[in-house]
Amino acid sequence: MAREDYVHGYSIKEAKRLGDQAVTLAELLHYDSIFEPDSKILEAGCGIGAQTNILAGKNPQCNFLSIDISEKSLAQAKGSIEQAGFNNVKFAQADIFKMDLEPQSFDHIFVCFILEHLPNPEEALLILKKLIKPGGSITAIEGDHGSAYFYPNSSYAHQAIQCLIDLQAQAGGDALIGRRLYPLLTSCGFNNVTVTPRVVYADSSKSEMVEGFTKNTFNAMVEGIRNQAVRSGMIDQETFDKGVKDLYRAAELDGTFNYTFFKAVGVN
Ligand SMILES: C[S@@+](CC[C@H](N)C(=O)[O-])C[C@H]1O[C@@H](n2cnc3c(N)ncnc32)[C@H](O)[C@@H]1O
Repeated sequence: MAREDYVHGYSIKEAKRLGDQAVTLAELLHYDSIFEPDSKILEAGCGIGAQTNILAGKNPQCNFLSIDISEKSLAQAKGSIEQAGFNNVKFAQADIFKMDLEPQSFDHIFVCFILEHLPNPEEALLILKKLIKPGGSITAIEGDHGSAYFYPNSSYAHQAIQCLIDLQAQAGGDALIGRRLYPLLTSCGFNNVTVTPRVVYADSSKSEMVEGFTKNTFNAMVEGIRNQAVRSGMIDQETFDKGVKDLYRAAELDGTFNYTFFKAVGVN
């Protein structure tokens, strides 16, 4: 089962985008994703296992339970973990809101790019909090589409990005959630909350960032909602296509692109 209103969908193209995103951002987002040996860690909303692979590889002495609502994504996640040869991850199909897990049974919980899709992220965080042992932690990573700026600037590109923000809001999510992580975690009762912005900056001297992030992650994400955006009447086809063209323009030799992710850690 999968959420019908999940804005990015579950296509092969989307799976590739999530994979590209994780590989390109691995160092930026995960240089400090190190947990003490023997930790029991729940990854909620693992998708196709893009982050799972990085976490499992960086923490070979920890045991992960990675869950997702989508059977299809889980099958891909299992396949890629097997292919990588990691044996420290178990997978289960589960809905965060209907999980049947022992309270206080995990040392740490990890969530990435999922709170932004939930109409009730506070509720999810409170459910997850109950599963963490006292003194354990939650790590949440989210983007914030309001943080995208680029050269050359383009009002068309900003309009296309706004469509993604609006569609996600219509589906009950919040594409601007990165800036909200601190208040979210503190209001849910987490202690010692620290949020670190992780800035992606791409220009043509960093070709792996231009390819892996600007083109294959961000622009692909905006392009992916073209039909939904045009069909909904929020934008006309020509304006949207100009916007996407201008986003690719920012990936050319003299273009630059900025985006900020936010990584929050809170203690239970
Ligand atoms: C954008 S993907 C992110 C996947 C992965 N964390 C990553 O960073 O690549 C969001 C995932 O959350 C899952 N999801 C959405 N609602 C869920 C819920 N209520 N319970 C469990 N998983 C959920 C979706 O199926 C999807 O795989």
